[in-house]
Parts: sequence; structure tokens; C-alpha cells
Amino acid sequence: MTVAAMSSEVLAIHGGSPVRKTLLPYGRQSIDESDIRAVVETLRSDWLTTGPKVAEFEEALAARVGAKYAVSFSSGTAALHASTFAAGLQPGDEAVTSPLTFAATANCILYQGATPVFADVAKDTLNLDPELVAAKITSRTKAILPVDYAGHPADLDSIIQLAERHGLVVIEDACHALGAEYRGRRVGSIAHMTVFSFHPVKHVTTGEGGMVTTDNPVFAETLRRFRNHGISTDARQRQSAGQWHYEMVLLGFNYRLSDISCALGLQQLKKLGRNLARRRQIAARYAVEFRNLPGVVGSHTRPDVDPAWHFYPIRLDWSELTAGRAEVFQALRAENIGVNVHYIPVHRHPYYRDRFGYKGGEYPVAEAAYECLITLPMFHGMTDIDVLDVVRALKKVLIHFER
Ligand SMILES: Cc1ncc(COP(=O)(O)O)c(C=O)c1O
Repeated sequence: MTVAAMSSEVLAIHGGSPVRKTLLPYGRQSIDESDIRAVVETLRSDWLTTGPKVAEFEEALAARVGAKYAVSFSSGTAALHASTFAAGLQPGDEAVTSPLTFAATANCILYQGATPVFADVAKDTLNLDPELVAAKITSRTKAILPVDYAGHPADLDSIIQLAERHGLVVIEDACHALGAEYRGRRVGSIAHMTVFSFHPVKHVTTGEGGMVTTDNPVFAETLRRFRNHGISTDARQRQSAGQWHYEMVLLGFNYRLSDISCALGLQQLKKLGRNLARRRQIAARYAVEFRNLPGVVGSHTRPDVDPAWHFYPIRLDWSELTAGRAEVFQALRAENIGVNVHYIPVHRHPYYRDRFGYKGGEYPVAEAAYECLITLPMFHGMTDIDVLDVVRALKKVLIHFER
């Protein structure tokens, strides 16, 4: 279709026919017969939880990311909580993190009674700016939690150097970045602890689930105990040793991931390479298609990384458009494109505003980015037609609203 024909198309929000008949979500899982078989086999086995599949999944994930240890959790949030515990965060401590993330990244600092301190993000990647992190370090700082926004690895070398200068622990929130690479190294093998999520919109799913990878045996042991009530052995170890005795050595939780979930995770992990390749293909197509669209600010991938593309954010320059975000968002939804926004900056949520007195304006880069961001559908199960629908809808809407 020519640009002239496109600009004369009536938007669905104005009563025209939508680009798609059904809603394309921004993310969703892909489950095939091998996944279903693996889960059913586990349902028929002796162990529904804390059985052989847990260790198998952990070993496979550790090998995939190049880490010595991997410890599974019932969610990415539980994995983050365990990491802040293992890092020794306690009341009176501070940890520096990004405001442009899901609330769980900052909440896990609060769970330990410590204080999240935000540092603003870099304009290009929307990841923590190491210079701004340095300015936030005090005698109370214990950890830095960089986030790999949208699957683009954070500036890890600079952050780790900074942390090592000050004796801090780096907990990388890589919930978006399973399979990403940074300067030729795999995310999961770089920070002191790296946290992944297996929520259904992620690269690999277990329904709910998470994992921490680390090369540090003390962190690994603490993480294992923390997810199991602080108990030093698990039920299967005691059964095989013919033992009833156990000791609770720290105050932990039940954050265990079940064998049912790990059986699914193991099958899903086999498809990670294919899933990443598809996401990268879609991102490349989007980048080409959106290059000269009115209002679209170019893509921001640094040359030394290979992102995992958890989602695909675009930033819009409102000075080039006659509509604002709410209208563009609603117009795309009306075309049946399941757009989203990632993220409302954490300090703008009422809980953080009320508790810490944030008024807005403290993190200008994150706040300005938030006003411009729209997330487009991105998942490995998207067909070529789905991709084309997103392209057609975005072109239709932006050309309509071109100033
Ligand atoms: C950046 C980030 N951190 C943490 C989490 C929490 O992960 P989960 O949903 O597995 O608890 C998410 C969830 O999507 C996330 O996007």
C-alpha cells in the first residue's frame, strides 16, 4: 500500500476496520507437544516437587549461561528477594537500582528492610548510567541492581568495576535478558548474581518461576537454604540418606520451584536458541520498517551487545505528531495490536511516593522516556503475518497523526 493510500485509511478508533480481527498480545508463551509430554511424565512420576527435575533444570540453565551454579525459585521476584538476602542487605543499608523497571526490582530491596536508591538511566539504552550510580554510593550502600531493560544488557563492566572499588555486590536483574550477550560474554556469567524470570511472556517459561546464577558457592548455598525455609537439606536428600533430622539455620521462605515446572523449563530451554533467533529477526524487521516513520526515534542497541529482545519498546517524538501517547496507544489497541508501556517509573507509584516523598522530576531521563514509550508485540511465536500486522498498524496510525 502506498503512503497516500495509507493516510486515507480510516483508523479503527474512528470507525474504520482494524488491521487485525483479533488482538495480538504484546507477549505470550509457545507450548508444544514435547512440553506437554514432559509435564505429563512428571505428573506420573514420584516427585511433583523438589525431585530430580529441579537439579536437571538448574544444571542445564547454568551450563547455558556459563555459570557455576543456578538456583531455581518460584518466581523471578522470589529469586530477587533471595539475592538481596544472600547479598546481606539489612535495615539501614541501601542498594542502587534503576527507576525504569518493574517494581519487583526495587521491592526486593525493601523486603530486606533496606532502602532502594534510584539512579537515572542513560538516554540511549534506558539502562542505569554508571556515572549517576557512582554519585549515589554512600557508606550505607551494599549492592547495585542493574536491569537489562527490554533484554539489552546493562553497562556491566563499568558497574562491576564501580562495585568492586566500593566492595558492593552486583545483582543483575536479567528477567528480560536470558540469552543476551555483553561484550562476547553471556548474561548470567558476569554479575555476582544474575536473576532470571520464567513468566509466560519470557524467552523460556515454567508458568511462574525464576533462577539465580552465580559463580560464588557461598551465595549458591545461601540461596538454596533461603528458598527452603532456611533448612540445610531438602526432603529428597533426607529420603535418600534415610535421615529424618534437619536443621533450620536461617529465616527463609517456601520459594521452591516444583518438578512439574522444572520439567517444562527443561523442554523450553532446548528451544531458547530458536526463540532468541526469532526475536532477533523480528527486531531487525521492525528496525528497518520503522526507520523513517513520522515520530519514531531510532533504535538504541549498543554495538558491543546482543540483546535478547524481551519486548520491543519504541520512543515517539510528540512534536512530530498531532496526537499524544494516550491517543496513539488507544488507536493501536483499536487496530487489535496489544501495545503496552514499560514502565511507569517505580518512584512514581503511589507506594513509593507516599513512603519516600518523591514528587516527580528526580530522574529526568527515565521520566521523559516514560512519556514517550510504547511497547510493541514481541514474542518468538509471532508469525510473519503478525509482524506485518504490527508494521501496518503502526504505519497507519503514525501516518494518520503526522503533523
Ligand atoms: C525487570 C523485571 N524484574 C523482575 C520481574 C519479576 O519476575 P516474576 O514475574 O517472575 O516474579 C519482572 C517480571 O516481569 C521484570 O520484568
